[in-house]
Amino acid sequence: MLRSRLTFNLRMRAVDLIRKKRDAGEHSREEIDFLISSYTHGEIPDYQMAAWLMATWLRGLSLSETASLTEAMLHSGQILDLSDLPGKKVDKHSTGGVGDKTSLILAPIVAAGGLTVPMISGRGLGHTGGTLDKLESIPGFNVNLSLDKFRSVLRECGMGLIGQTAEIAPADKKIYALRDATSTVESIGLICASIMSKKLAEGIDALVLDVKTGSGAFMKREEDAIRLAEIMVDTGKRMGKKVVALITDMDQPLGRAAGHSSEIVECIDVLNGRGPADLRDLSIELSAWMFYLGERCKSLDEGRRLAETMIASGEARERFRQGIKLQEGDPRVIDEPQRLPAARSRVEVPSESDGYISGTNCELFGTALAMLGGGREKKEDTIDPGVALEFHKRVGDPVRKGESLATIHYNADAKLVEAKIMVGASYMIAPEAPREKRPLIRRIIGA
Ligand code: URA
Repeated sequence: MLRSRLTFNLRMRAVDLIRKKRDAGEHSREEIDFLISSYTHGEIPDYQMAAWLMATWLRGLSLSETASLTEAMLHSGQILDLSDLPGKKVDKHSTGGVGDKTSLILAPIVAAGGLTVPMISGRGLGHTGGTLDKLESIPGFNVNLSLDKFRSVLRECGMGLIGQTAEIAPADKKIYALRDATSTVESIGLICASIMSKKLAEGIDALVLDVKTGSGAFMKREEDAIRLAEIMVDTGKRMGKKVVALITDMDQPLGRAAGHSSEIVECIDVLNGRGPADLRDLSIELSAWMFYLGERCKSLDEGRRLAETMIASGEARERFRQGIKLQEGDPRVIDEPQRLPAARSRVEVPSESDGYISGTNCELFGTALAMLGGGREKKEDTIDPGVALEFHKRVGDPVRKGESLATIHYNADAKLVEAKIMVGASYMIAPEAPREKRPLIRRIIGA
């Protein structure tokens, strides 16, 4: 543990470090070690950490502070040694978006294709959904496995999906939840440290990063997404990992559904060879990179073909079924998705004019979903897994006045009017179709 490696300056105090960052100072490695170790051990209260996070969000972190923070968070717990498991260990992590559910598709594809995927994921963050929350919509699914159980699941089916624990990335576990509730997410340094501390603790050989950009991403501007990607790729490479980052579009939701159980249904659709094209294409592409970096394939084309074969043969779907069962979930949801929690009521969001969808304010979709119970306002809040947004229109589609843009699946009326206004306002409608189509994959960093 970090603490035993350090001798702290006895006079170091959180309140001074908050002031230093507030006043745009640069922290030393020792100061960051002190903050992270003390917070992880419960010696710094949430309110002081929250103040430091906000000061950091406003002032930013230098490259050297980002490196120190990543290492301090990584060493807040253990680094898994999975060398006793056969083959290469490869993972993927996304910076988060609306309807972004590729992890649940590519983990079974890549495991079925012969690599091991030890995935430590997060919960919903800001307006974006979290893999762990989505998995927990499957009745019984346990994301809190002990490390021994995690290993045995990985050995048996080649994939395992858990959250940060008291043993693995405990600093991220606490800081992540605090950032979600304090609007301190969209910071390059904080995101890099959060993602890379978890991923480097996994004992992987290679990592594929999906860095989202656009109105539904934390990095709205492509140049910021590129910078974040470069810093994360560089951090991973310095630690001896193969890392590549795909900058991908998040200017509209990925797939046709956002909301926990509805996203599981969409993943099962893709694993059954159906599902929305954008979701399927991105899942295949990310899987191909995982196969390639994991040396399972000699080229990306070979990787794509392997991913497609794993879907067409049903092997990926069966691997997902096995993974669900091993993590104590109800595997019957694969054939009977009606076993997943669903909302009681639904309402359509009609278009107010004729025209074409020219863009979306995608973050608003995520915020509307969170307001309906699909996200947290406070750390302690529970998620309603049944609420969902079903998107009927994509950018470039024609629309008629009165036609439904989206369906809201909800349980409580309380915030419905507001949510409906937000969903309607998220769609931009123009008299003509947009001339250019935004590519789903915008750029590759670190290849
Ligand atoms: N995903 C993470 O794990 N952490 C972040 O800060 C953002 C996305």
